[in-house]
Amino acid sequence: MKIPFSPPFIDEDVLNEVSDTLKSGWITTGPKVKALETEISKLAEISNVLCVNSATSGLMLALHWFGVGEGDEVIVPSYTYAATALAVIHVGAKPIMVDIKDDFTIDTSELKKKITTRTKAIIPVDIAGWPADYDTINQIVKNEEIIALFKPESLQQKQLGRILVLSDAAHSIGAIYKGKTIGSLCDLTVFSLHAVKNVTTAEGGAICINLPKPFSCSEVYENMRLMCLNGQTKDAFTKNKAGGWRYDIALLGYKMNMPDVCAAIGLAQIRKYKTVLLPERKRVALKYSQLFANYEWAHLPLLIDNETETSFHIYPLRIKNITENERDLIIEEISKEGIAVNVHFIPMPMLTLFKGLGYKIDDYPVAYDNYSREISLPIYPQLTNAHVKLIVAQIVKAYLLIVNNHD
Ligand SMILES: Cc1ncc(COP(=O)(O)O)c(C=O)c1O
Repeated sequence: MKIPFSPPFIDEDVLNEVSDTLKSGWITTGPKVKALETEISKLAEISNVLCVNSATSGLMLALHWFGVGEGDEVIVPSYTYAATALAVIHVGAKPIMVDIKDDFTIDTSELKKKITTRTKAIIPVDIAGWPADYDTINQIVKNEEIIALFKPESLQQKQLGRILVLSDAAHSIGAIYKGKTIGSLCDLTVFSLHAVKNVTTAEGGAICINLPKPFSCSEVYENMRLMCLNGQTKDAFTKNKAGGWRYDIALLGYKMNMPDVCAAIGLAQIRKYKTVLLPERKRVALKYSQLFANYEWAHLPLLIDNETETSFHIYPLRIKNITENERDLIIEEISKEGIAVNVHFIPMPMLTLFKGLGYKIDDYPVAYDNYSREISLPIYPQLTNAHVKLIVAQIVKAYLLIVNNHD
């Protein structure tokens, strides 16, 4: 039997919504994107959400909006998908990498040590859907000594008066941190709506705008919207109406808007996210944890802890006391059985680009340890409990073969 890693969830509702868009006579940014923004706003419990064409774009747009550029530093965890740091490099700034904790999120005590007068933003990442420690990060940026180090340059930096907290929530739509929804926990939060994500638009991202006073979040929304449409004062939908032809280019923007035909997929999914799709992911994750609880060598991920709950995006199993090579051999064995698994993530200092920029994995021991023992298991609504049992049985078999060396 073949078990894919992460097929998209495409049902009749998705097909109907996409078909409706295709037949409507309007396929790029328009009413479906607006409707998706409204649904994400409801889910994140905030008023202003802007959809863009990827989370990578969303991170770049947010940094660009804040005026981050050459000579600036942005703190990121060493253990994340490369896009977190690539967005920083693309706007001309330097990613400052920090090691992680056992729960895969940024180590806030290490983070504090890396703040300098050049630090303009911190990008915590909710790896696998498990929220970073937002209370501590928000406290750090609001600490008087840290504020004294902040050297604002752009208008936005002067208005905020401190380091920006920009969450890379690519994995964590629908997750809860201490009773609060992801999207409402810091200044700006970026979701990914990429094909493998919990809610998808094939490719896409969404920026949740939750800035404190004196910002007007609706004005920031309008400003970012302009920035994601080449700085053009009228979007194509408005310009397309009779008599609506005249426009201006008000500022230097990017082309990062989401098309309606993509938004339609996400719209059909998000309407059943909290009632069907998220609970189904939770069912799969809890089943894995229940079955692996019988094996002392299985290091289970944090899923629920008091009022914090993951989005169940990735199930990052770790195996105790194995080497990176043994992990690779276990993956090879289960792949032979047609089960597709993954590793989230190869820490950035191990990748060619970042090695070339001088980052060294030896500086991030927890990131390496987590990576070397991690296997991400299939997790999606279509997976049955029988599939989960089969996957666990194959992992147990592979573990015994590779580590204990017996059949
Ligand atoms: C942690 C993290 N950040 C950012 C991204 C980038 O998302 P996108 O593909 O929507 O640009 C991803 C994508 O997988 C991710 O895993």
